[in-house]
Amino acid sequence: MNPCSLLALLSSLPFEIVVVICCHLPVKSLARFRSVSKSWHSLIDSPYFINLHLTCSIETNNFMLYVNPRSNPKEMGCLDFASLHHNAGARARKLDAWPLKHAHICGSCNGLFALYKTDTKSLVFWNPSTHKVYDAPFSRIRLYTSDLSTFQFDASGNDYEVVMIRRNKSTERLDFVIYSLEAKCWRTIHSTINGGDIDIRKTSCVLFNGAIHWLVSKQNKCNLLVFDLRREESYKLPLPNPISEHGMDNKKLLILDGCLCVDSIGKQDVGVYYNELWVMKEYKVNESWIKLFSVSRNHKYQCDFHALSYLKNHDKVLVEFDYFNLLYWYDLKNESFERIHIPGISSPDYTICPATLVSIDADVENKEKRRWRLLKHEIVHLSFDGEELAQLR
Ligand SMILES: *[C@@H]1O[C@H](CO)[C@@H](O)[C@H](O)[C@H]1NC(C)=O
Ligand SMILES: *[C@@H]1O[C@H](CO)[C@@H](O)[C@H](O)[C@H]1NC(C)=O
Ligand SMILES: *[C@@H]1O[C@H](CO)[C@@H](O)[C@H](O)[C@H]1NC(C)=O
Repeated sequence: MNPCSLLALLSSLPFEIVVVICCHLPVKSLARFRSVSKSWHSLIDSPYFINLHLTCSIETNNFMLYVNPRSNPKEMGCLDFASLHHNAGARARKLDAWPLKHAHICGSCNGLFALYKTDTKSLVFWNPSTHKVYDAPFSRIRLYTSDLSTFQFDASGNDYEVVMIRRNKSTERLDFVIYSLEAKCWRTIHSTINGGDIDIRKTSCVLFNGAIHWLVSKQNKCNLLVFDLRREESYKLPLPNPISEHGMDNKKLLILDGCLCVDSIGKQDVGVYYNELWVMKEYKVNESWIKLFSVSRNHKYQCDFHALSYLKNHDKVLVEFDYFNLLYWYDLKNESFERIHIPGISSPDYTICPATLVSIDADVENKEKRRWRLLKHEIVHLSFDGEELAQLR
């Protein structure tokens, strides 16, 4: 349906239905609708709608695959997941990636990229879908090459945080330097974790649920070490037995479909290797680890791979082969691989996140919240709340 007839149709429908339909529309169409009228503008820019659209994008796998050629990390292309499904040699659309000019990517979350700018030594937040850029004031922080540091970016609670982990040279313990977008400043937590036990540049680490998780190994037994940034305490979680015994090599932590996962490459018998993916279905519940798949390397797939994304409702896992960074769908039902061809891209880095309207400027957000509240009275005749809308979907 073309945008004009869709708009005409939408204008004839009750407001609640319009909101529900709009949640499923791509950011590009919404950007076009935004300029139609004041009420459309207010609806699409309201934090309420932005959150609804985000939730909907995640639930319906409305993800983007961002590709950065290693030979030119300042460039970026993107594809939507739908085009990867149809697998018709989808071409990456080139993005205007000017924020990457003097910056490198620290992480991505809810459609936003956190970047560290090497010229100003500060953070910038960028939504490639809306092209909005937010230069974070007061986020200047100097990185020394001797700092063993890594960045993580997460939205837990109602805040977005960039966490830098570094080894304190005088205490040899790990320090967590955290930039909060709500507080607009850095704070440091000095932990009691011995930095000598963790090689932060090599150990797989993820920020999830407001806590940092690492794979650590002692006497060849592998565990998860967790540091809760809010309670400022650390504890260990066991890995499932079949993979905890093999040490840390070839294991990777990742978040798939809102769950903590471990990707593991192991050796069964002499010369028999396998790729496994373990999922902790219920966070912090040791008994909830399940094995999503185990694939033996055979004559057809002689290569190690790791998971990038999991489409639960399609029983498909997007995996990246270590050999030339090729992408495949792994079908959990018939245990087969299907190659995804993306012409013109060789050996890129991949980032997966939803296409969203999320923006960062908190002052604007507050102003729009107020404006939205005013306008809601004008355009909504029936009363509703988020729960009622969720039931409508
Ligand atoms: C190292 O830790 C100590 C105390 O825990 C702290 O006073 C000092 O500032 C830290 N060093 C750096 C470079 O952050
Ligand atoms: C998980 O394992 C850890 C360490 O073995 C233990 O302290 C904790 O109580 C266990 N948690 C659950 C929910 O079983
Ligand atoms: C596996 O199933 C998918 C659909 O779920 C199908 O497209 C694919 O061809 C199947 N592969 C094999 C080898 O049967």
